Amino acid sequence: MSYQQEYRLSIEQPEQFWAKQAKNIQWFKAPRRILSKDENGIDRWFADGELNTAFLALDYHVLHGRGEQLALIYDSPVTGQRSTYTYNQLTEAVARCAGALQQLGVGKGDRVVIYMPMIPQAAIAMLACARLGAVHSVVFGGFAPHELAIRIDDAEPKVVISASCGIEVDRVIEYKPILDSAIAMATHKPEWCLIYQREQKPCNLIAGRDLDWSQTVARAQPADCTPVRGDDPLYVLYTSGTTGKPKGVVRDNGGHAVAMRYSMKVMYDMQPGDVFWAASDVGWVVGHSYIVYAPLIAGCTTILYEGKPVRTPDAGAFWRVCAEYGVKGLFAAPTAFRAIRKEDPECTQAGKYDLSKLKTIFMAGERLDPPTYDWVVKHLQRPVIDHWWQTETGWAIAGNHVGLDPVAVKAGSVTRPSPGYNVQILDAKGKPVAAGEQGIIAIKLPLPPGCLPTIWANHERFEAGYLNAFKGYYITGDGGYVDADNYLYVLGRTDDIINVAGHRLSTGEMEEVVAGHEAVAECAVIGRHSELKGEEPLGLVLLKDGVQIDEEQLRAELVQRVRDQIGAVASFRDAIVVQRLPKTRSGKILRKVLRNIANHEEYQAPSTIDDPACLAEIEQILKSKGLS
Ligand code: COA
Ligand code: AMP
Repeated sequence: MSYQQEYRLSIEQPEQFWAKQAKNIQWFKAPRRILSKDENGIDRWFADGELNTAFLALDYHVLHGRGEQLALIYDSPVTGQRSTYTYNQLTEAVARCAGALQQLGVGKGDRVVIYMPMIPQAAIAMLACARLGAVHSVVFGGFAPHELAIRIDDAEPKVVISASCGIEVDRVIEYKPILDSAIAMATHKPEWCLIYQREQKPCNLIAGRDLDWSQTVARAQPADCTPVRGDDPLYVLYTSGTTGKPKGVVRDNGGHAVAMRYSMKVMYDMQPGDVFWAASDVGWVVGHSYIVYAPLIAGCTTILYEGKPVRTPDAGAFWRVCAEYGVKGLFAAPTAFRAIRKEDPECTQAGKYDLSKLKTIFMAGERLDPPTYDWVVKHLQRPVIDHWWQTETGWAIAGNHVGLDPVAVKAGSVTRPSPGYNVQILDAKGKPVAAGEQGIIAIKLPLPPGCLPTIWANHERFEAGYLNAFKGYYITGDGGYVDADNYLYVLGRTDDIINVAGHRLSTGEMEEVVAGHEAVAECAVIGRHSELKGEEPLGLVLLKDGVQIDEEQLRAELVQRVRDQIGAVASFRDAIVVQRLPKTRSGKILRKVLRNIANHEEYQAPSTIDDPACLAEIEQILKSKGLS
């Protein structure tokens, strides 16, 4: 079927369209209700079907003759280790881990927090939860104890699964002390912690609470798959909102499985047996969807890579992995390619490897800037597909669907909406705008399968944050436009979220941390353009009256505060003292204007500005510090 036919059917007859897609996965009980409303009035897909996501990812393939095919390849340049799991082996490992969790009292609906580096046990733990119908919540390893504690308190896990350490290039990051202090900070206390001891840095276990992964799992009996309903939650993944409290995006089992299966085919053109590599981290949505669930549900081989695009050991790392394992589809964030380009501008490393199996390169996580796009196309000579999505949707809202009939790429555009996504550009009043005009990117309801139905333990926040602005629409938080040829352009967030090296972060959260410093009266944190990471945060700080503090000392203290409270991943490195912050007459800080100044963009001071002279003053300070 052509893209046009597929898209039209998905929008005009969504139930018929998705009922057909649902037939591509094996249900224990096929859904009779394809699209229905839940108790909150939210659209739900396949609510009354019964299935198990781990069964689809593992046992299904064992039962259908793929038991000896590779399911997962672990490649770790930071430890020099590699290992592989066939579908038989991965099924066995997951069933045993599920058995261990079951013995610890984990059952359907219980939460399990997973705080792990990029080792196979992270994927095994996720799938083990899915096997039991338990709800996992993976927390990215670069977050500090305070962030982990917030998530523990919100998800209230029975068990936390972690490892003794992670490895960042050549540095060992001890995870266990981070976990211990997070649990000390949290009000909710998990009953058990299951700890995978890594030889690079084993840790002490607390008697009565901590259990050694290897011993506990070795003793356990394999557990069977627990049937769950289509609308039962599979996982909660926290993502940055505009406040200090992250949002727990809920993913259900039924819609997710159907969307994963469908997207592997149409978005990535992956067939069973193909090798797919998402060079991301299991702590992010890309890792959930395209390292773990989708490739396995599709019967592909997935790669779990514990390394970076550069420095592990060089800018040829991506090409080595692609050549060694015969990767057909590579998916990474543009920032990774910018890092490679910086170290190997002529891409000479790629020439050293046999990349004949590599068909397509996919990018997402942040805007793919045309120079990066052009560089990759020039040096790799294969299709580069930009696609746009968010933690909330779980799969691409828009892209150039290589599994249907892809069209010519326009650099800077994410091409066209995925089937199921009725994308509309709205003005501030919620009215659709004309082609070429910028506006708010919204999705007309119903959202397709796989997208979030709520925020964990806070449904009001879901409605307030996404649905209430314009009746009948989901607001993406991104702005953009559609051109005369119907190509969609995503220009960036319209809220206080920034994207640092493909990592989504809240400037509001950073402001709360910076403002907590005793010398700070008020502050604004904005995203500043970065050659490598896309954006980087910059703090503009107003001191309390009478405070005398050396500016460099203050900067160092603020940087440390953000590292301690949010984590190294925030990449907060710059803070400068200003005399005034531009505000409206009602006292709202004009962050957008600050962003424009810091990024050398043209700006217009709004008529509501209280003190226009302060803008020139800030421009001057930024210039004097080499920041503008
Ligand atoms: N555990 C602990 N710390 C981590 C971590 C983890 N899992 N991931 C990152 N960090 C730390 C880094 O060590 C670094 O610490 P430092 O400030 O002490 O040096 C800090 O967090 C910032 O990390 P990062 O932004 O990743 O910068 P980097 O310089 O280490 O690497 C890139 C830059 C571009 C190579 C890297 O960001 C990258 O590969 N990005 C791809 C992004 C991605 O996969 N996004 C997912 C969406 S597709
Ligand atoms: P996350 O939830 O971490 O996946 O981040 C989602 C946000 O990243 C989106 O709302 C966008 O702002 C941005 N983003 C992701 N992919 C793209 C893309 N291909 N082009 C532009 N922005 C993107």
